[in-house]
Amino acid sequence: MSSIFKRTHMCGVLNSGNIEDRVVLNGWIQKRRNLGGLIFCDLRDKTGIVQIVFNDNIPQELFQKADKLRNEYVVGVKGVVKERESKNKDLQTGDIEVFADDLVIYSEAETPPIYIKDDDEVSDNLRLKYRYLDLRKHKMQQNLTFRHKITKAARDFFDSEGFTEVETPILVNSTPEGARDYLVPSRVNQGKFYALPQSPQTFKQLLMVGGTDKYFQIAKCFRDEDLRADRQPEFTQIDLEMSFVDVDDVIEVQEKFLQKLFKDIMNVDISIPFPRYSYDEAMERFGSDKPDTRFGFELKKLNGVVKDCEFQVFTKALDAGGDVRGINIEGGADKFSRKEIDKLQAEIKHYGAKGMAWIKIGEKETTSSINKFFTPEKMKEITDVFNGKKGDLILIVADKGKVVFDSLGFLRREIAGRLGILDDSQYNLLWVVDFPLYEYDDEDERFYAMHHPFTSPRLEDVPLLDTDPAKVKAKAYDIVLNGVELGGGSIRIHDKDLQKKMFEVLGISEEEANIKFGFLLEAFRYGTPPHGGLAYGLDRLVMLLSWQHSIREVIAFPKNQNAVCMVSEAPTVVAKEQLNELGIQLKNENLTDI
Ligand code: AMO
Repeated sequence: MSSIFKRTHMCGVLNSGNIEDRVVLNGWIQKRRNLGGLIFCDLRDKTGIVQIVFNDNIPQELFQKADKLRNEYVVGVKGVVKERESKNKDLQTGDIEVFADDLVIYSEAETPPIYIKDDDEVSDNLRLKYRYLDLRKHKMQQNLTFRHKITKAARDFFDSEGFTEVETPILVNSTPEGARDYLVPSRVNQGKFYALPQSPQTFKQLLMVGGTDKYFQIAKCFRDEDLRADRQPEFTQIDLEMSFVDVDDVIEVQEKFLQKLFKDIMNVDISIPFPRYSYDEAMERFGSDKPDTRFGFELKKLNGVVKDCEFQVFTKALDAGGDVRGINIEGGADKFSRKEIDKLQAEIKHYGAKGMAWIKIGEKETTSSINKFFTPEKMKEITDVFNGKKGDLILIVADKGKVVFDSLGFLRREIAGRLGILDDSQYNLLWVVDFPLYEYDDEDERFYAMHHPFTSPRLEDVPLLDTDPAKVKAKAYDIVLNGVELGGGSIRIHDKDLQKKMFEVLGISEEEANIKFGFLLEAFRYGTPPHGGLAYGLDRLVMLLSWQHSIREVIAFPKNQNAVCMVSEAPTVVAKEQLNELGIQLKNENLTDI
């Protein structure tokens, strides 16, 4: 065991201001070259890389030791900073180098299975398996540090606003967010299971009943749902709740928080208040409840113009209570070939669309997939709805309302991405408010809570709970950044009769409500302040602000697409003994580790 060199500097911070300083550095060998009488090493730590020189002025023994160095050896170096003869503009420390006069090798390293360089193109699963090596990359260390800064800024901000950070339990009862639960069997209470929290929702409401007034937490949440680039089974929220507030009060604090965060972390000025779109407006104009407003291509409705036309695809959709809507890709006529349009058409099948009509307004003539069903005058009427000009491409979808919105919402974003018109330096933050309280599921023939069953309806809509629940709007709000839902929340129901009504409409019997949320309903009987809150997806926030393409890039040890932790290989089979202790028998007995 070698003694540890007491570090004076981090590698990446050295510059010409340190020339002639004696420094002690610790780190990993990134690269070593032996040019005869000179050995050059790049020494790396989380701040960056610095060049170390061993020349033949040093004792032979030391020179030989330096010659043994290989990539990823962990070493300590003592030496003097000198100006570099040939400067390296690509390196932060490229003006200097360190002439070493002492070296300690703390540990040797086998050849690593992945290269430690930012642009190494290696499969995601290999990166995740050797995450501890992947994390050595400068980019990954930057991401972790950036995440830390955002977490700290959130803690500092909410602390300064009088919020108290409180930890809520992880072994809990089912929470109301609506995804599948991760279950944990209880040994002491055999046959019973804890659920891991999908969010701290119920406990933060109990904290309000408990007089905490303003709560926040950097909270781990667990949801067993299909994974995507912006979803992980285990993720983190900046979660908060406030007492004696209405929608505007919650929104006001968040705008202050985000404005400060952008200034402090990114040095970007964002103006508040952010625009607010009602859910209906967001859907009508952008086909999405998380609109990206950095570009146009807004949806237009054609129902009136095409209602008596010959084209049955349109009229049948209208007769079935659906819609005919479209978007105008301005200047897009010559940017999309027939083949590319067919491909887009295939992609919107994922959203339930059966097809897509298109109109290209060319220099001389208008070509279209639906020309033969419409007179030139009618075609002109249609293109006028979109303010169509020469060179434009109009895409139209006719179907059930939701299918039309989802398909066109997708096409808008997809096409903007392909055309490269998304401005990376623009941060369009906005609120979507007045969500429907319920969404109706055609298959199950019942209503579900769009947010969760504790979300308050707008007071003016309460009478509609009896007559027309589909029309009731919620005191719910989502914060959206460039088309990604950053967070969401609501004002909660604090009146027990209203809560009862809510469950009734949802078809949740008193018994079921009591089993699931009885503890919360009971708490509400003893004096509940009006309250509401919101939760940000911390991983998404960090991903967006650091322009990463996936939240995996900003999580130290994420799961892969199959929800597997590639480092520890969780989930794993367990010993039969352990299952016996829990009173669990597997259907497939072979799946135990005897
Ligand atoms: P909601 O379910 O909208 O609300 O979640 C809040 C935010 O958490 C993030 N998020 C996720 N991030 C990564 N992976 C996931 N699987 C995932 N699921 C959600 C999103 C989302 O906007 N308790 C309520 C909040 C409240 O009402 O106060 C809740 O959890 O950014």
